[in-house]
Amino acid sequence: MPQPGFRVIPAASAPVLLFTAVLIHASPAGAAPSPGYGTGAEPVYIDLDFSRVDRKVDERFLSVSIDASFMTQEKFMYLLGSPKLRTLAKALTPAFLRFGGTKQDFMRFVPQRQYSPLKDYRTSSFHYTGNSCERFELPELLEKSLKQEWAQQALILYLEEQLGKYKPVNFSENAVDLLYAFTNCSGLDLIFGLNELFRTSDNAWNSQNAELLINYCESRQYIMSWELGNEPNSFEKKAGVRVDGYQLGQDFLHLHKILQESKLYSSSDLYGPDISQPRDHRKDLLTGFLETAAGAIDACTWHHYYVNGRDTSLEDFLDPEVLDTLAVKTNEVLETVNSLSPGKKVWLGETSSAYGGGAIGLSDTFVAGFMWLDKLGLAARLGLNVVIRQVLIGSGTYHLVDDNLDPLPDFWLSLLYKRLVGPEVLKITAASKSGQNLRLRIYSHCTNKHSSSYRRGSVTMFILNLRKNPATISLPAQLLNSTVEAYVLQAPEPGLEGLKSRSVALNGVVLKMVDERTLPPLRGIKLPAGKHLKLPGFSFAFYVLKEAGAPVC
Ligand SMILES: *[C@@H]1O[C@H](CO)[C@@H](O)[C@H](O)[C@H]1NC(C)=O
Ligand SMILES: *[C@@H]1O[C@H](CO)[C@@H](O)[C@H](O)[C@H]1NC(C)=O
Ligand SMILES: *[C@@H]1O[C@H](CO)[C@@H](O)[C@H](O)[C@H]1NC(C)=O
Repeated sequence: MPQPGFRVIPAASAPVLLFTAVLIHASPAGAAPSPGYGTGAEPVYIDLDFSRVDRKVDERFLSVSIDASFMTQEKFMYLLGSPKLRTLAKALTPAFLRFGGTKQDFMRFVPQRQYSPLKDYRTSSFHYTGNSCERFELPELLEKSLKQEWAQQALILYLEEQLGKYKPVNFSENAVDLLYAFTNCSGLDLIFGLNELFRTSDNAWNSQNAELLINYCESRQYIMSWELGNEPNSFEKKAGVRVDGYQLGQDFLHLHKILQESKLYSSSDLYGPDISQPRDHRKDLLTGFLETAAGAIDACTWHHYYVNGRDTSLEDFLDPEVLDTLAVKTNEVLETVNSLSPGKKVWLGETSSAYGGGAIGLSDTFVAGFMWLDKLGLAARLGLNVVIRQVLIGSGTYHLVDDNLDPLPDFWLSLLYKRLVGPEVLKITAASKSGQNLRLRIYSHCTNKHSSSYRRGSVTMFILNLRKNPATISLPAQLLNSTVEAYVLQAPEPGLEGLKSRSVALNGVVLKMVDERTLPPLRGIKLPAGKHLKLPGFSFAFYVLKEAGAPVC
């Protein structure tokens, strides 16, 4: 029950449940008037509900994509054989790898092994056969020269994205083998996005090319799941083709039937329709689609970006109102899906900070983590089941791994999230004495039991501090004796400019790979029991409450 003198902190928009209740119990500092009002010294009191799991997301909740444009020149697919990239990908499992994006609807499968693009490198000894993970590794020298060329290619692809003109591309069996080997050998679950812009004269989907690909994959016994078409709401803009919700549904029913008839894929999953976030007419598209084909899909996918990469600023990345727009869109989609297909899982099938390839100088820097971590927290809380990050590797600036295949801040953030955050979402509430909105975003899950050594009953909170001043967080009395391990992520340099750093410090130490096959240990710092948590300005952190003893965890 609220105590006199405590007011609920108003949330920026209704769907955000952060500050909807005040449940404050006397804690040592709670009674004292907060000094430094408005300087961040005022504590925020949190309360956790351990009695039940509020929601449960997929074990692969945090997943990643590779944009189909990566296959525009097949030789770059060999980069997927880099031991470094594989080490990084493996660290993010369990996860899906979605291969799709705008370019997928401009790609034709050519069932030939015709390409031998690495001949130029006089490496006839390098021949990938597709069955053994060891043989698939890219030799170091080759990796070096390919990376240099890739940097050029990434620029070309980025410009193509800006122009919105998409040339058709062919890809061979070889490219499919390289993609599959990467996912299989890293332990990722491949989702392949098929081209939906092959149309018949009466504007139905022409499945001929997809069937060639499906047959090929089946002949190789590639275990994978499928999608069809990327952002069909903008087919008209991209290709002058108009597909309404009903027709989209028919196309999916057609693909569903093809998969049903396959021995290997009759029980494999189909996801769609990968529409952009709702905006006027797009809602009709989703409605028509679900009315026609909800039964054919295993999850309903939609895409979300907060801002336009060409028209955004550092401030947007730290703005609670911008972050809350995700909640508005999510609730719209959930409402549509729940009314037409109750119980259907809903995924963010492609998502990142800024569309158009990301925001230069922002989407690949520390500050991007505010959008990314808040998205992970909010999406799980609102009831989305999987979130696929655009992209693991690829052109633009929203990648997790840069052109030298080195991990960027959002990779490290994702890795910590994977290790520490389990699929069970817990209810958490927070309030301050003055009722001031302290620009804190607070989430909590059971600690991940599979990928950490924490015991059962442990709880992980993650908190984002969107202000420059440090925040003080006060745990409820029953947790005051619990050991807390803190994983605080900060920009290596102070101030707003520091937020644009392409590296990140964990508890004060900049994270780097030890070598191309070894990640550094990610250790938390034990905090003395009974103290407030102090979160520095412009930072975010995971706190593991080791002795929370939550019965549902
Ligand atoms: C998949 O990976 C396993 C090892 O994890 C390997 O034995 C198998 O050959 C791979 N399959 C393909 C088709 O590459
Ligand atoms: C792709 O392949 C088709 C058929 O195999 C061929 O007609 C076409 O010219 C090729 N396009 C490109 C861009 O290579
Ligand atoms: C915390 O520890 C102190 C000292 O060991 C003890 O007196 C107190 O009862 C404990 N509080 C809780 C809530 O367990």
